[in-house]
Amino acid sequence: MIESEELDKEKKLKEIKENCMKANLPLKESATNIVFGKGNPYAEIMFIGEAAGMNEDLRGLPFVGAAGKNLDKLLNSVGLSLEKVYITNILKYRPPLNRDPLPDEIKAHTPWLIEQIKQIRPKVICSLGNYATKFFLAGGNVDLMEKQPGITMVHGKAKLIEFHELKIKLIPLFHPAAIIYKRDLIPLWEKDMEVVKKEVDGSKVQKTLF
Ligand code: URA
Repeated sequence: MIESEELDKEKKLKEIKENCMKANLPLKESATNIVFGKGNPYAEIMFIGEAAGMNEDLRGLPFVGAAGKNLDKLLNSVGLSLEKVYITNILKYRPPLNRDPLPDEIKAHTPWLIEQIKQIRPKVICSLGNYATKFFLAGGNVDLMEKQPGITMVHGKAKLIEFHELKIKLIPLFHPAAIIYKRDLIPLWEKDMEVVKKEVDGSKVQKTLF
């Protein structure tokens, strides 16, 4: 049986999304839809990317395009699926032409990500690519992101972090879009997934809703 505290998690996430939609965030005007998150609000593992692309913007869901197909494969390879994880992005709206996020945009959008994390209380966060990884390595301080090591230095290296009073294991991974263009990353990616698999096997990852 799902306890009442956990039922609250789902309700609270819905409320956060509704409030986020009302907020006057940068990039809102040029976007088609908010891309807030998908998956299981009771998950113990979150995957966090950068920002929506064209397909995500049109459908209002993260990782539904080509990068999403790679992410699905990655999840399947370690016995995970949408029923067992929660997936979101640093930014909640697509930057025009998929340009890189600006520091002020990250500052404006990430309070919503932090609210999501506080509700879900994941044990593990897999940060996908440079922006998400640097955000967590910087402890959420956007001004310190630039000083953080890039994904090529830290991929696959699990690190225990304190984030808004939560103890979380951060596992930086290459962005699933990167391997579309850089096929030589695939073996590294597969090796990094062993680190994720260890976490998945070692903890009770899901409390499925379905
Ligand atoms: N890339 C991301 O970082 N997020 C998405 O949702 C899609 C592509």
